[in-house]
Amino acid sequence: MADRDDLEFTYSLIDRIFRLSLGELADFSGAKYDGDFSLSLDEAQRRKHEYVAEQIGIGPGRRVLDLGCGWGPLLAFVRSRGGTGVGVTLSSAQAAACRRHGLDVHLQDARLISPGRFGPFDVVASLGAFEHFCSPQQQRAGRQDEVYRGLFARLASLLPDKGRLYLQTMVFGRNMIPLDQIDITAPRDSDAWYLALMERQFPGSFLPYGDDQIVRAASPHFRVVSSISGRLDYIETIRQWRTRFATPSFRKTLVKLQLLPRWLSSPDFRLAFTSGVSANSVCFERELLDHYRLVFERQDVRSLRS
Ligand SMILES: C[S@@+](CC[C@H](N)C(=O)[O-])C[C@H]1O[C@@H](n2cnc3c(N)ncnc32)[C@H](O)[C@@H]1O
Repeated sequence: MADRDDLEFTYSLIDRIFRLSLGELADFSGAKYDGDFSLSLDEAQRRKHEYVAEQIGIGPGRRVLDLGCGWGPLLAFVRSRGGTGVGVTLSSAQAAACRRHGLDVHLQDARLISPGRFGPFDVVASLGAFEHFCSPQQQRAGRQDEVYRGLFARLASLLPDKGRLYLQTMVFGRNMIPLDQIDITAPRDSDAWYLALMERQFPGSFLPYGDDQIVRAASPHFRVVSSISGRLDYIETIRQWRTRFATPSFRKTLVKLQLLPRWLSSPDFRLAFTSGVSANSVCFERELLDHYRLVFERQDVRSLRS
């Protein structure tokens, strides 16, 4: 999986720019427009939270675990609905920001939570974090399915029978190219170059091959209730994020100046954050990537066998 250093690179280094651009509770996963692109980003993010609440049951007295909680947007929503949320992240800046807002967030590997760590939960949600759970090295070693199966087994141990899990993640799409073609020296604008750029932006991370790989890995413990592609919604989300990031402000300029030494000394940093193109948006458009919202229900092993 992506380790702590990888996630500090992706999320903590430019933490203040995220928060200045997207708000203190920066929501950094695909919003839900359902094809209505007249919605604002905030409205579509709200619609996503309402959908999650409807699908898994978030409300008064419910205990919700958020795996890879980011800056805490879902946890704040849970609180507003009278529930209790616990979040985990591997970014220290995110954990600190969440705590400033009174959210119960821990710097903890989501894949290693045991039932004794935070107690039992009614439901689990994970938005935009599954992408980080398997590393390219694990995939090359033929361990991708094993990593996902291990995660689902652990999640099953945290949930009651019929407890629900909402999982939102990017996956490789139907036009994904062979891995050995991915190359940062390939012609700019080629599929191979865009995918290599994504590798730089999300070091240590590797995606599942479609929603079927996820459903298969979950199947010993979970039945899939629904699986819907949110690819077009994600393209619009990224478009609106880019507008927000590009909106200038004095404070953002100050933060960018502080990052100048890093920009000068690190080619990876320059490629990841200042290449001027949106690799993930292009990859979604070309269907090198897709994006799924999956709802699972924990099934008691005995009922799976009968
Ligand atoms: C794209 S952000 C999504 C944040 C949030 N869920 C949202 O919707 O705004 C990915 C999050 O996953 C977290 N993450 C990735 N791998 C993790 C792991 N193994 N354990 C805990 N958190 C992890 C990152 O720290 C980050 O908070």
